[in-house]
Amino acid sequence: MNQHMPPEPVPFIDIGAQRRRLGKSIDEAVGRVLAHCQFVNGPEVTALEQALAKFSGAQHVVSCASGTDALLMVLMAENIGRGDAVLCPSFTFCATGEAVALAGATPVFVDVDETTFNIDPASLTRGIATAKRLGLKPKAVIPVDLFGQSADHDSVAAIADAEGLFVLDDAAQGFGASFKGRRLGTFGLATATSFFPAKPLGCFGDGGAIFTDDAGLAETLRSIRVHGQGSDKYDNVRLGLTARLDTMQAAILIEKLRIFDDEIAARNVVADRYARGLGNVVTVPRLAAGCTSVWAQYTIRLPKGVDRDGFAAALKAQGVPTAIYYPKSMHQQTAYRDFPVADGGLGVSEALSNDVISLPMHAYLDEAAQDRVIEAVRGAVSA
Ligand SMILES: Cc1ncc(COP(=O)(O)O)c(C=O)c1O
Repeated sequence: MNQHMPPEPVPFIDIGAQRRRLGKSIDEAVGRVLAHCQFVNGPEVTALEQALAKFSGAQHVVSCASGTDALLMVLMAENIGRGDAVLCPSFTFCATGEAVALAGATPVFVDVDETTFNIDPASLTRGIATAKRLGLKPKAVIPVDLFGQSADHDSVAAIADAEGLFVLDDAAQGFGASFKGRRLGTFGLATATSFFPAKPLGCFGDGGAIFTDDAGLAETLRSIRVHGQGSDKYDNVRLGLTARLDTMQAAILIEKLRIFDDEIAARNVVADRYARGLGNVVTVPRLAAGCTSVWAQYTIRLPKGVDRDGFAAALKAQGVPTAIYYPKSMHQQTAYRDFPVADGGLGVSEALSNDVISLPMHAYLDEAAQDRVIEAVRGAVSA
């Protein structure tokens, strides 16, 4: 090897390694769909929903076309709309608040906890008061299990119960994690997840699912995902969407779900090793009591005085890619800055948007690659 060649970059996520591991089983699963040709509503869709119900412990699973649709469909099913407020954290991917606005309601942004990056119960309480003061009707809260760690579902449930709100858990990043020994998918009225390829459980395109123990809601969601279809196919009984998960993606997900627990364990090994190697130079993520993570992202906070762009460039020069989730919290983004924020402001979200940076994380990151990441971070912080 030419000693002046830069090292091969460490993959930020490695869908290829997983693809190689699953090889034949995925090919065969796709081949079965190609053979039976039921590309929409094929048998794999029902089989996946059953497998996801067993995995999560939820009674009903309704697969759909994306995580965004999963959120929107629940809001539509619950008739959330104009004049309603839905509380959601600002430090999240835009889809959380976007679904609320698409439903015609008002997202009210609340702050997050400094150590877990998940919804801050005190700010949630303030956000509900803010919504009322503005003449909105607070109807729901969407906690997000950000970067893979479950939110504090006990605190969220206590506030939601006291205020008569329903909880829609956004587990797009956290599906597979648990809170106090219970898997996500079983908290609140419903849980939404995403199967976008980069998610811990991802398909080979777009996909999502909704989990609920409410049989009536599940039935409504099944109607909404096909244009609000009633018992007669051509008598639509409500507004809906084209929001089905296609059979090919379901077939792929069935195979991926078989190794998901093993991959979650592998991600946790990487996270533990990162924490040991980096804990004394940067702020490493911490799991709150009772919470587990599937490590959708491994997101550190840089010490004051370390320039984030310079840090990212130094890592890149060592073949270590990074990403910033999220350089702007939702309330700082053009499309969302006119929506209300909880009284007291969103100082933690804003601080996080300034100093977080995510490192390579996936189930196939070997120790040599982990060491390269650790050394590159340590070198860049001390430079
Ligand atoms: C927190 C969160 N919510 C919702 C979504 C939306 O999922 P999708 O991209 O499948 O629409 C995502 C994924 O990108 C997400 O990270």
